[in-house]
Amino acid sequence: MYDIEQVRKDFPIFDIKINGKANTFLDSGASAQKPRCVINKMAQIYSTEYANVHRGSYLLSEEITSAYEEARETVRHFLNAASSSEIVFTRNATESINLVAASWGRKFLTKIDEVLISEAEHHANLVPWQVLRDEIGFELKICRVKDDGAFDWDDFCQKLNGKTKLVAITGMSNVLGTILPLKEIVTAAHRVGAKVLVDACQLAVHQKIDVRDLDCDFLAFSGHKTYGPTGIGVLYGKYDILDSMPPYQCGGDMVDVVTYQTTTFDVPPARFEAGTPAIVQAIGLAEALKYMMSLGLDDIKAHEDELTSHAMAELSKIGGLHMIGTSESKGGIFSFVIDGIHPQDLAFILDKEGIAVRVGHHCAAPLVRRMGYESVVRASLGLYNTKTDMDVLCKALNKAKTFF
Ligand code: ALA
Repeated sequence: MYDIEQVRKDFPIFDIKINGKANTFLDSGASAQKPRCVINKMAQIYSTEYANVHRGSYLLSEEITSAYEEARETVRHFLNAASSSEIVFTRNATESINLVAASWGRKFLTKIDEVLISEAEHHANLVPWQVLRDEIGFELKICRVKDDGAFDWDDFCQKLNGKTKLVAITGMSNVLGTILPLKEIVTAAHRVGAKVLVDACQLAVHQKIDVRDLDCDFLAFSGHKTYGPTGIGVLYGKYDILDSMPPYQCGGDMVDVVTYQTTTFDVPPARFEAGTPAIVQAIGLAEALKYMMSLGLDDIKAHEDELTSHAMAELSKIGGLHMIGTSESKGGIFSFVIDGIHPQDLAFILDKEGIAVRVGHHCAAPLVRRMGYESVVRASLGLYNTKTDMDVLCKALNKAKTFF
């Protein structure tokens, strides 16, 4: 197990006081803090190593092209993909999912098909399918989560059928913390001939993902949640499927031969990376993933599992607190309300204590409504959080109750 005090020293943000208090950062589910190695690497590239990629025949461009492609190889290793050609750099998980909808979806979905998602989806894995449904006319089915936030396997099996062409599903709910049984979902989906897209935006932060073992067809995650920079995301796709897909955006770097009359396109992943990519961000992301792997993905999970048990036990002692998402299969995301206190007021009071949480519908408004609320407070863990952070949160929540 890694030394948590040493790890916290890797993150300069924890030297900063918030409202005169220690920085209790519990909003990694929205975006994670950055270790010094990522910050330094990006500063170093901008200072002394920067040029465009895939275009120059001079030293800086050749070297940064190698670094950019090495970053792709690091992502391949992180996901255990078969080939780095299966790794497409995007802007974020939202863009990765939109890419699949716009390219694979428009080519392969017809109005007699069905797409199956779950009630636990973030808007990013709901809205693109609604928009495409309105265009193509397929049926968008939504399988349920139970009242405790657990994935409803029976409902999923009932809605999955021979017409299902795609199961697009989150690996871990950003509101409930529920971790879905992905392997079973993929096996069942493949049995009826459906492809599977996993929104791993939250899951990739908390545990090891092996796309070959999982056998999913697509998987998306964002760099900024995995301790990397903003502006970079990943779409994993099985090579044959990526190769069957038309371009998402068109321009430089994704073409083979261009004439005034017509154009042929490059092979994946270049086909899906039109224009100058987020070069420094991709290398920064690789640095972040290397950092996570150096701590050990299993150790990160073990650390967070321990914190999750502690948090669930301590939060359950607070009278009037209702936890939203209490499934046994749950990671370090805690959404809750407290009787008689508006979530926004609660977040305001927590901020005064130096505690960062997110409040609202968390870009999963239908899910929050389905659980019976319009707005909830959410505390979410990163690899750098401690039991002290959870205790500070509980103490502040008890203090907040005295104000109302
Ligand atoms: N999707 C991010 C969250 O859950 C922004 O907060």
